[in-house]
Amino acid sequence: MIAPLNMRDFYLSKENMQSIRENDNPYVMKLREGYGDSVYEEDRAQSLKGKWLIDIFKNQNPLDIEIGTGNGYFFAHQSFQNPDRNLLGFEIKYKCIYQTIRRATSLGLLNAKMIRFHANVIDQVLGENEVDNVYIFFPDPWPKKRHFKNRLIQDDFLQNIYKIQKPGSFIEFKTDNPEYFDWTVEKFKNSPYEIARLTYDLHTSEWNGENFRTHFENLWTRKGLKIMLLRAYKSN
Ligand SMILES: C[S@@+](CC[C@H](N)C(=O)[O-])C[C@H]1O[C@@H](n2cnc3c(N)ncnc32)[C@H](O)[C@@H]1O
Repeated sequence: MIAPLNMRDFYLSKENMQSIRENDNPYVMKLREGYGDSVYEEDRAQSLKGKWLIDIFKNQNPLDIEIGTGNGYFFAHQSFQNPDRNLLGFEIKYKCIYQTIRRATSLGLLNAKMIRFHANVIDQVLGENEVDNVYIFFPDPWPKKRHFKNRLIQDDFLQNIYKIQKPGSFIEFKTDNPEYFDWTVEKFKNSPYEIARLTYDLHTSEWNGENFRTHFENLWTRKGLKIMLLRAYKSN
């Protein structure tokens, strides 16, 4: 069963409000019928805090997370390329969860699972030092000043993510929005993270060769926008 989100603590855009109207959403039934052992709803996800490896993945491999998987191109690629790592995806839109998990399971991947959960309060489903690498690609930039409070990257959020990551692991962030990138760089500078990679033009940088272009990355690149990347480590 996939339960509705607990909306108590969140501001939700109109679009996201729509996504929680389960009865109107054709993807809810598809997920319930076909992917019950790969997609975890809010209550179940919270009960698995600290136990994802033992209870769900049933191995001791690293546990990476992707926040905002969208249609799941990176998610499927990453889990396929890294069978010795686990990948847990966070999404709030049913359609995106469906697209993502269908893409991964059609490749027969058992190391890829999804949570329907607001990543803003990620520490409700993941315990301290439970997570390895974290990927956040093209989160909504909320460009209007009055909406900055809705941005994912906030001081509290980085503190929470830092706590749930293992020492030596990294967090990677990509965006096409220079203003949101500057905001993010400042937030990381004010956090315990150590910035190791920073570029305002990823596709001409030394890291381009190892970069996988996500769906949104392709969209913005085709429009002539530059892609920015930050990678930061939790020190050992
Ligand atoms: C602009 S899309 C980017 C998708 C993908 N990462 C890519 O690069 O193609 C942002 C995604 O983040 C999801 N999202 C937004 N806020 C979220 C939150 N608080 N927790 C989890 N996912 C969220 C949205 O539903 C959307 O699918």
